[in-house]
Amino acid sequence: MANGTYEHQEVLSNLIFGTLRAQVFRAAAQLELADYLSKETLTSAELAERAQLDVDALRRLLLALEKIGAVVCDQGGKYGLTSLGQRLRTDVPDSVRDLVLCYNGEATWHCWSDLAGTVRTGVNILERVDKKNYFEYLKEDPLEYELFNGAMADDSRNSAKSIAGGFDFSRFGTLMDIGGGNGTLIASIAAVHDSVEGIVFDLPTAVGSAQQIFALNGVEGRCRAVGGDVFVEVPGGADAYMMKSFLHDWDDEHVISILAKIRKVIGEHGRVLVIEPLFPDDPHSLPSFSGVITSDLDLLSATQGRIRSKADFEELFRATGFLLSNITPLGAYDFANYEHYNVLEATPRSEL
Ligand SMILES: C[S@@+](CC[C@H](N)C(=O)[O-])C[C@H]1O[C@@H](n2cnc3c(N)ncnc32)[C@H](O)[C@@H]1O
Repeated sequence: MANGTYEHQEVLSNLIFGTLRAQVFRAAAQLELADYLSKETLTSAELAERAQLDVDALRRLLLALEKIGAVVCDQGGKYGLTSLGQRLRTDVPDSVRDLVLCYNGEATWHCWSDLAGTVRTGVNILERVDKKNYFEYLKEDPLEYELFNGAMADDSRNSAKSIAGGFDFSRFGTLMDIGGGNGTLIASIAAVHDSVEGIVFDLPTAVGSAQQIFALNGVEGRCRAVGGDVFVEVPGGADAYMMKSFLHDWDDEHVISILAKIRKVIGEHGRVLVIEPLFPDDPHSLPSFSGVITSDLDLLSATQGRIRSKADFEELFRATGFLLSNITPLGAYDFANYEHYNVLEATPRSEL
């Protein structure tokens, strides 16, 4: 012990109690406290009455939220939101509420609950015990699936404008976003590049609210949604096939099958655009608690996927008749993990 602090005190405290602290933020998101406090400052008793909560338990939660920096309490005992707390509101464009609910929720916890078993066998709990993949697992629980889609949309909304503005998508007449969820990214791209016709292609359950997103962005005349399964068929007719945070969900065998399906339908001047963070050549150079490391383990635990390096992509493209022709680093970052995205551009090899 030196100067009244134990060695590694902060790191150990975070490692031991980190998941509990995350539940404080999750409870605030579940109870929609930020929405109540966005309208007016309230005492704990007033907030308990509005939100129908136990006043003593709420007072204790609010103290924890104050210490996290999400709320402040004035002299009169009224609580208000800080800029951090504002991010839990449901009605702000930079909301992270669904990310908090998804990554601290039951489906994610189930996937991470046996990381040791995953490391022992190389096979995650879903495949080993539940005998289904992550998306089949989510489909059985509509609430968790909605949370997952909401979290992906939070991430895309927070990064979509920088992605749309950071790469020249106007080179392509028709752009298809494979695994594009509810169409948040393709809508932002079409809004910035008004010559682009957008198609979002995803599982039928995921594209259900796409028309609404297109209308909100004023691009409903140029964007459409197609429901389908990438392992069955990729629709043809696009000039570029974009995949953001999609290939990382799959092991190499599945990625090869996806790229091969695209290779069958892509024109000789077509492009594949993969938007993902990359592992650096020397992963030991990464900063502590690097997002790519957490994300890589999350993908292992949930989908048997992985974060890849440039060399990994070169190999996968080569195996499926493409050449990695360009990498554009983007200012946008993976919201949950604070890692920068890149656009990896691949060209069909016969063109060269
Ligand atoms: C990690 S999310 C990424 C969503 C979006 N691209 C983004 O960055 O926000 C992966 C997406 O792949 C979709 N997906 C999973 N399996 C699929 C399949 N077999 N065919 C098409 N889409 C699939 C999921 O529904 C989900 O929207």
